[in-house]
Amino acid sequence: MTRRWPVVLVGPMGAGKTTVARLLADEWGVPARDTDHDVESLEGRSVADIFVDSGEAHFRELERQAVAAALADHEGVLALGGGAVLDESTRALLADHHVVFLRVGLSDAVKRVGLGSSRPLLLGNVRSRIKTLLDERSAIYESVATLVVDTDGRTPGDVAGEIGKAL
Ligand code: S3P
Repeated sequence: MTRRWPVVLVGPMGAGKTTVARLLADEWGVPARDTDHDVESLEGRSVADIFVDSGEAHFRELERQAVAAALADHEGVLALGGGAVLDESTRALLADHHVVFLRVGLSDAVKRVGLGSSRPLLLGNVRSRIKTLLDERSAIYESVATLVVDTDGRTPGDVAGEIGKAL
């Protein structure tokens, strides 16, 4: 069979697209690529951050562009993000390719994705909620504070030490 590149893997989160793409690519001696990863490296931020800071519609536009670029030039295996096929123009481009649907049932998908998932459509709500709360409340905390201590990247002991010295 003459393989037309890229060979594309689609399916929901937890279908194993990224892992399977790597295995296939090794087998065939070609590179594996993943559109979530392409978007992240182009943007210099995670998919979760793009969702929270710029919104899902913006992520979908970046994803649409990344998919089109990869379909045009990737000579290997390409794993698409789970929602990429929701875009009509992406579906039209896929018509020219080998597209493998990795089907998965609910319980296996949940098991594979895991409870620690950072996928924005799953646990992204926690992140979005915290962002909203910080936006709404930071000025209020500052207005009542006599001391402000940064805690980012610091241990609780370090933070407590600073407060102990100051008060
Ligand atoms: C999404 C799936 C994710 C990622 C984003 C949105 C979706 O990719 O693109 O979180 O809409 O199903 P994976 O399917 O690789 O997890």
